[in-house]
Amino acid sequence: MIPISVNNVSFSYPSGVQALRNVSLDVAPGESVALIGQNGAGKTTLARHLNGLLQPSSGTVAIGDWSTHEHTVAQLARRVGYVFQHPEHQIFKRTVRDEIMVGPRNLGFDAEHTAQVVEQALAATGLTDLAEQHPHDLMPALRKRVTLASVLAMETPIVVLDEPTTGQDALGLRLIGAVVAQLTAEGRTVIMISHDIDFCADHCRRLVVLSEGRVLIDGPAATVFARPDLLAQSAVEPPQLARLAERLGLPLAWQIEPLLDALAERKAR
Ligand SMILES: Nc1ncnc2c1ncn2[C@@H]1O[C@H](COP(=O)(O)OP(=O)(O)OP(=O)(O)O)[C@@H](O)[C@H]1O
Ligand SMILES: [Mg+2]
Repeated sequence: MIPISVNNVSFSYPSGVQALRNVSLDVAPGESVALIGQNGAGKTTLARHLNGLLQPSSGTVAIGDWSTHEHTVAQLARRVGYVFQHPEHQIFKRTVRDEIMVGPRNLGFDAEHTAQVVEQALAATGLTDLAEQHPHDLMPALRKRVTLASVLAMETPIVVLDEPTTGQDALGLRLIGAVVAQLTAEGRTVIMISHDIDFCADHCRRLVVLSEGRVLIDGPAATVFARPDLLAQSAVEPPQLARLAERLGLPLAWQIEPLLDALAERKAR
């Protein structure tokens, strides 16, 4: 399994916008990390550095013993699967199944292994019944799941999901949460970008808050939600239950059971 090492990375787009400023981030194999922060904070820019789609203006990115500077995007695709923020940048084929088959075929999986990973990816994303549909006929939230399935089928040790939760209904959220749990249970690494702070806290062990291209806080949810000042600076709203706990003068809690426990304990006193 393969660690990620982002070392002091700064990046400016040719337009002159500086999107990352001295970002350092080490991620161990099997970690689940949520990148959060307001629009334009630099989340996608950072994600695109992990598979070599972007190269740092200064600093280095290493995926295990591979510097992204010394390896092609095609090579890096064996280690890092990236689900684009916008599915239309990723979908080319006429059926959902064919689309999901592209990655495993490019990686040279044999026919039997390809069939197996494609069926697994369809099932994991709830798309089995839609396998013969044209991806462009699907609603955007389902199209996003097609791109997720495409990346799952590549069996990469690292999976980067750029806003998988956008537009998903309750079933979609449950499926994506289960995918994150399954990947990390297998020792694979998940980097997820999402504006759904509750989803991030529920499914990722570690939250990294970006603001204006810098890392503001990095740690488990309990550490991050204990700093509403820094969250406010990054324009990230803490989860609703965390705000409720604060209003009630209870200890920090962002899930229903711990909050109810804290209430019961106060009542008993
Ligand atoms: N292709 C580009 N050319 C020039 N500037 C860009 C480009 N892509 C992003 N930017 C700028 O870089 C900064 C960071 O953008 P980025 O897309 O990484 O943010 P983000 O955190 O992913 O935001 P969002 O939540 O809206 O997806 C922003 O100021 C954005 O306008
Ligand atoms: Mg983005």
